[in-house]
Amino acid sequence: MCGIVGYVGTREASELLLEALEKLEYRGYDSAGIALICDAGIVIHKTRGRIADLRRIFDEATDDDGCTVGIGHTRWATHGEPSDVNSHPHLSKSKRVAVVHNGIIENYIELRRHLEQHGYTFSTETDSEVVSELIDYCYSGDPVAAVRKAEQQLKGSYALGILFSDFPDQIIALRKDSPLIIGLGEGENFIASDIPAILKHTRNVFRLGERELAVLTAQRVRVLDIFGNRVDHPVDHIDWDAAAAEKGGYPHFMIKEIFEQPEAIRKTLAPRIREDLSIDLGFKRLTDEDLKGIESIKITACGSAYHVGVVAKHFLQKNLRLPVEAVLASEFRYEDPIVDEKTLVIIVSQSGETLDTLYALREAKARGARTVSIVNVLASSIANESEEVLYTWAGPEIAVATTKAYSTQLALIQLFGLHMARIRGNLSEEEVKSQITALQKVPEGVEKLLEDVKSVQYIASLYFNCQDVFFIGRNMDYALSLEASLKLKEISYIHSEAYAAGELKHGTISLIEDGTLVIALCTYRPLLEKMISNIKEVSARGAKVLAVINESDVQTGTVADHIIRIPECADIALPLLTIVPLQLFAYYIASLKGCDIDKPRNLAKSVTVE
Ligand code: G6P
Repeated sequence: MCGIVGYVGTREASELLLEALEKLEYRGYDSAGIALICDAGIVIHKTRGRIADLRRIFDEATDDDGCTVGIGHTRWATHGEPSDVNSHPHLSKSKRVAVVHNGIIENYIELRRHLEQHGYTFSTETDSEVVSELIDYCYSGDPVAAVRKAEQQLKGSYALGILFSDFPDQIIALRKDSPLIIGLGEGENFIASDIPAILKHTRNVFRLGERELAVLTAQRVRVLDIFGNRVDHPVDHIDWDAAAAEKGGYPHFMIKEIFEQPEAIRKTLAPRIREDLSIDLGFKRLTDEDLKGIESIKITACGSAYHVGVVAKHFLQKNLRLPVEAVLASEFRYEDPIVDEKTLVIIVSQSGETLDTLYALREAKARGARTVSIVNVLASSIANESEEVLYTWAGPEIAVATTKAYSTQLALIQLFGLHMARIRGNLSEEEVKSQITALQKVPEGVEKLLEDVKSVQYIASLYFNCQDVFFIGRNMDYALSLEASLKLKEISYIHSEAYAAGELKHGTISLIEDGTLVIALCTYRPLLEKMISNIKEVSARGAKVLAVINESDVQTGTVADHIIRIPECADIALPLLTIVPLQLFAYYIASLKGCDIDKPRNLAKSVTVE
């Protein structure tokens, strides 16, 4: 999704902005641009394509060396195709105001009409162009007043970086429902959509609050709320190892992050499990009494985080004997959800900024539900707005296709489930302890799986040219196959679908022909026999079957063409282990196909539009 950076200081802004934009490439984009304040006024360089293309254009054109203030943008097209003209920054026709924008201006057509009546003209198809012209329209010498006046007329979501040619020493930033951080340096300051963009220059950051405006100069940052009152934010010190946001010798972030899973799961679980196997979640608002009174649970999220919810639904329902539903955040918000103060809504989000998920959280809160979020990014909007937050300590996840965030979310929601089961008396103390111990052993199990990736590589080498793949599974295995299928299609562009194994024959089996690959997840022990029947059904129609099985399973190997074995473990650990070879399978297939694995086409890491 769109990425914003901005710099004000004494160093050459152009190189700094281009490097910072490269660090945001993981968010997904199709065009890029920068605006610099130079002696001649605001100068824009922008293009469809990659940052490398932008660098080329900048190097060819440049007579703007020595500029020390600027803003930059990577665009993920929503309104208007990816093109040079639609790229950001947008410069007002007066050349006084330049804007970079992440989000969607929902009333842009209305605003455009209004401005056209006042003689303004537009040259792009974007919603964002209206912002630079609107600010220009509102400007009469005071940039803060102009931005505030314009803001009152904007509907939708926006993180904005704004330059005024009359004020060459400053950047103005503003945000609502889209993320923006401020980085504080020595004699220089930054804005960015995400921390990796500026980590090389400063570790002191804070998040701009909802509808807050910041004025940045080289020496100071002033933050104002919607009423113009000064706001002071505590500064967070980011202690990530800078290498955590680098590839560290791996060819792609995705494979690095797959291999980081044992450590990420350990870091997520360990601080919450005491030596006596009691669980400390650090909740301050949701008391044990509140959790005892919960009558139903809804888990809401998008993408892979939603898939975590589908796995967790099975786990929580079984262990808590409560109705549990996993709902896509984009649906939850508009389905007039039945939630009240007896409903616990669990929100799952790596970034903590996915707009649909944020709005689902707000909808749940507005209806009185109790809320717990599972989030990876510290102090993100979802973390800030939910009643309780459980952080996954996965570290920065850069690859668009999530791996370590998924597995830490799943481990954490399971731990939370055990906590609830203990409080509510659903499980005996002995059972809770044995499940906690099994969870603690997950990192070892994942390490074991990662020791030998050759068999997965070999199977990938047989099928990397295939057209279609069907994943089948039952219960927890079906929930997992949703994620396995998404992983494969998003990075390799192979068409794949996940089916509840019993459902395939109600239509889709007609697509199975000689050589079609079917990946059958067969780890859920109670339904193994049924899975074997389903494998036979597809084999009889010519499918090649790759079965993912428990180590002790002696039956399934006899009916499948290939097998991947999952080390023996307790049921609670199974999904966390089973997903690993399937992540690897997707990765190796995409690698053999030569795909842009970390930045698949059309995808964004953090989806901050509806
Ligand atoms: C995008 C990412 C997915 C992620 C989803 C939800 O689609 O590519 O990997 O699962 O957004 O993001 P979130 O940050 O809310 O987990």
